Amino acid sequence: MSTVTDPVAPRAVIDPATTPRGAIDHLLNSSVAPRPIAWVSTCGATGVANVANVAPHSYCMIVSSDPPIIAFSSSGAKDTLANIRATGEFVYNQVSDALAAAMNLSSADVPLGTSEFDWAGLTPTPSAVVGAPRVGESPAALECRLRDIQEFGHGPSYLIIGDVAHIAVAPDLFVDGILDNTRTRPVGRLARTQYTHSRTFFDLERPIYRALLGAGVRSKRHGR
Ligand SMILES: Cc1cc2nc3c(=O)[nH]c(=O)nc-3n(C[C@H](O)[C@H](O)[C@H](O)COP(=O)(O)O)c2cc1C
Repeated sequence: MSTVTDPVAPRAVIDPATTPRGAIDHLLNSSVAPRPIAWVSTCGATGVANVANVAPHSYCMIVSSDPPIIAFSSSGAKDTLANIRATGEFVYNQVSDALAAAMNLSSADVPLGTSEFDWAGLTPTPSAVVGAPRVGESPAALECRLRDIQEFGHGPSYLIIGDVAHIAVAPDLFVDGILDNTRTRPVGRLARTQYTHSRTFFDLERPIYRALLGAGVRSKRHGR
């Protein structure tokens, strides 16, 4: 690490090429934060792997809303990845504030053949269009069909991309076309063991340049 002079403020500079992987992991996790948590439920195709599985993944994102596509990343080959490879399906479940402890419990390295649903006291609930169950207690479930898996790096890590085929949300929390997150209060992940509650909320209207100019608003930097 070194420090450089910057026109705005000093910067600590970290070179990913020469920094240990673990340190980069923590730095990425604290810089790209807070992250939503994809609580991914799956089931296997056969045998003991057929038990319902659920595991949190905070390396996740919406890829596209038209068509609806989401993605998450598995750091290494885990049961979730194996199940998705076997079935081509998974469900994203939202982690509401009330489910934070159960979500964390479900991340334990329980042996294959033991369901994280049982372990974490969750209810595997039949999905509408995929075989993988959803988390009954979660306020929102996105049922997905596998679109692609891409492999990266030495870990390796796997980016799992899915088409959202069905959306089911708690009807009392479905207000004006959106999930009322002031009540679900989704949990965010930061670095190491740190999480954040969604506690306070605020709105910002998207600025429209011409309208602001017409109202006499000037650029903060250039004053015009
Ligand atoms: C909040 C949280 C976020 C996590 N995010 C990820 C992630 O993005 N990718 C990953 O591979 N593991 C992640 N993990 C760890 C997995 O949940 C854990 O390895 C789990 O045992 C995997 O389960 P599986 O083997 O049944 O797939 C996370 C754990 C927690 C508690």
